[in-house]
This record gives sequence, C-alpha cells and structure tokens, in this order.
Amino acid sequence: MKQPVRIAVTGAAGNISYSLLFKIAAGEMLGADQPVILQLVEIPQAMDKLRGVAMELEDCAFPLVHGISLHDNPFDGFRGIHYAMLVGARPRSKGMERADLLEANAVIFAEQGKALNEVANRDVKALVVGNPANTNCLILSRNAPNLDPSQFCAMTRLDHNRAKGILGNKLGVNPSDLDGVCVWGNHSPTMYPDVHHATVLGEESAISQIDEKWYKEDYTPRIQKRGAEIIEWRGLSSAASAAQAALDHMHDWALGSNGEVVSMGIISDGSYGVAKGIYYSFPCVCEFGSYQIIQGLEINEYGQSMMKKTEEELLSEKAAVDHLLPAETAESR
Ligand code: NAD
Ligand code: LMR
Repeated sequence: MKQPVRIAVTGAAGNISYSLLFKIAAGEMLGADQPVILQLVEIPQAMDKLRGVAMELEDCAFPLVHGISLHDNPFDGFRGIHYAMLVGARPRSKGMERADLLEANAVIFAEQGKALNEVANRDVKALVVGNPANTNCLILSRNAPNLDPSQFCAMTRLDHNRAKGILGNKLGVNPSDLDGVCVWGNHSPTMYPDVHHATVLGEESAISQIDEKWYKEDYTPRIQKRGAEIIEWRGLSSAASAAQAALDHMHDWALGSNGEVVSMGIISDGSYGVAKGIYYSFPCVCEFGSYQIIQGLEINEYGQSMMKKTEEELLSEKAAVDHLLPAETAESR
C-alpha cells in the first residue's frame, strides 16, 4: 500500500466541494491505490457546516481516507500538503465591481500563497478554482517565492470539457473521440475555444466538419458564457461539473494525460507570443507529474486576435492588483 498523501481543499463547506470531496475520497483523483489525508479549510463562520460535511465523509467509510482534519486558517490547513485544491473565494456581491472582486480575492490568495510557501510540502501542486481563477493564481504564486511558478495552475479544464462536450454533441460523436480541442487565455468570457487542431478518432479534422458561422457565432460565445448560462438556468454556479473538471485537472497533472491535449492555466513562458508572467490557458500534455505546452501549432489571424484579446484582459487584471503583488521573481518576469 502507498503512503497517504495530504490534500487540502479550501471552501470545503461550499457547493463544489460537496461534490469534489467525495470523489477524491473515492480515489477518482489519484487512483484507487492512493490513500489520502484530507485537510479541509474554511472561514471561521463556516466551521459548523464543515463539521457536517466531515461527518458525511466519515459515514461513507471510504477505505482510502486515512484522516480528516478541519481548519479555519491556511497556515494550519496547508501543513505538509502535497496537493492544494483552492476552491474557496469571495463571491461577487451586489454592487461590487470587477476590480473590487479582484481586490477582495487578492487578500485571500496572498495569505494562502504565504501559507503554501511556509508550510506545504516543497513539491506541492496547487490548483486555483475560485474566481477570478487566473489572477488569483498569479497572486498566490507571487506570494510563494520559495515555490516554483509551475507548481501553480488556474482551472480552465471546465471550459476545455465544455468545449469537447458541446463539439462532440454537434458532430454526433463521443467527447472521448475528440482530441486537440483547447481553450486559450482567461477563465472569463474572453477565453478562446480553439478547435482548429482537433481531430475525430485521431484522423479526421473536426473544423472541416463544422460551419464557420456556427463556430464563430454560436459555439464560441456559448463556451465563453457557459458559466453564466448555467447560473441563469440553475440559479447557482456550476458545481458538479466544476468538481469533475478540478478532479480531471489534478488527475492528469499528477498521473499523466495519456498523450491527450488538455487545457491548463499556467505561467506563461512567452510561448505563442503571450506575455510572460501571467497565468494563461495553453494546450498541454502531462507526463511524469509535470506539464508541457504543445508547441508549433499554426494559429490563423482570427486565432491570433482572439488570443490577444484574452491576454490583454489578463494584463489589465494584473495591473488592477499590481499594487498588492510582491516584487517579481526572475521566473515570473
Ligand atoms: P460556494 O459559495 O458554494 O462555496 C465557497 C466556499 O468558500 C464557502 O463555503 C466559503 O465559506 C468558502 N470560503 C470563502 N473564503 C474562503 C477562504 N478565505 N478560505 C477558505 N474558504 C473560503 O461557491 P462554489 O460554488 O463552491 O464556488 C467556489 C468558487 O469557484 C467560486 O469563486 C466560483 O466562482 C468558482 N468557480 C470556478 C470555476 C472554474 O472553472 N474555474 C467553475 C465554477 C466555479
Ligand atoms: C463557471 O464557469 O461555471 C463559473 O466560473 C461561473 C461563476 O461565475 O462562478
């Protein structure tokens, strides 16, 4: 039997976690042979609710769960962790502008970055789910100068899964028959869902089977605004699909994506001309616990303008929180 690994989940009493925690505990993230210790983190006001969630986890008698601890601050909750699922964030409240939301979350992710820097395992992998995920991830990483920026990711896997699911439906194929779909940029309505490199069953090109007007005027905005569409219909933000995406992201990062292209919000190294030092979603493959950006994809003029627009948004988000960021390290420049 393997040694247990420590996984912290923030926002552990919230909606996404109510799905995510039970999947992690069942072995769906790191495999059926990997015991886990769950370190659940919440704000002090949500500790009673968290206690109830922990009771339910206990009542499932999951064989892989070797321990559960509850914490009302990240410095305790992140001690010795190998994986951080950072779901908790300040939601947008009435009258709050995007800049206010960025700033409120900057405070949370700055503290969590410091905590990871001080108390997490040195090989920790951290995934930011809480919105605005890409800029929260930047703040997190910049506050953890002793960890490498490649140890942090922002979640765009939900957008990736949506892009595959909706395209598969249009083509009448199973989403798993598609490869090469990717989402570039920010987890926001400026993201660029790109199907130009996608294949069906490893052979046929997907773009040649769809109408350009449908792709640009229907599919693209649909993926970009899918989160809002779900809020409109469900009355709540996506939860089960977000949990599945978080699980998929961490599973592939840790155990490999089997040669499949996946979208990950990662620190830009300047690939494809994207400004360095922002967390931007790129097409990647994962192997041996790390990711690599797929290089050499041909991007047409339309794609270049879409990629630029989402990059500009990320740069403006960065500018809005710049006064809260510690000085840049060599890697983040
Ligand atoms: P929720 O409101 O149900 O739960 C959030 C939980 O986080 C709450 O229990 C809250 O007490 C907790 N929390 C707030 N601040 C915290 C802190 N500093 N430390 C620890 N816990 C804290 O929300 P949810 O539906 O679970 O969504 C969580 C976040 O995920 C939101 O920001 C949402 O917008 C985002 N989200 C992202 C994606 C994505 O694709 N990246 C998809 C869906 C939702
Ligand atoms: C989603 O994409 O479903 C969420 O990011 C939407 C939201 O604002 O919580």
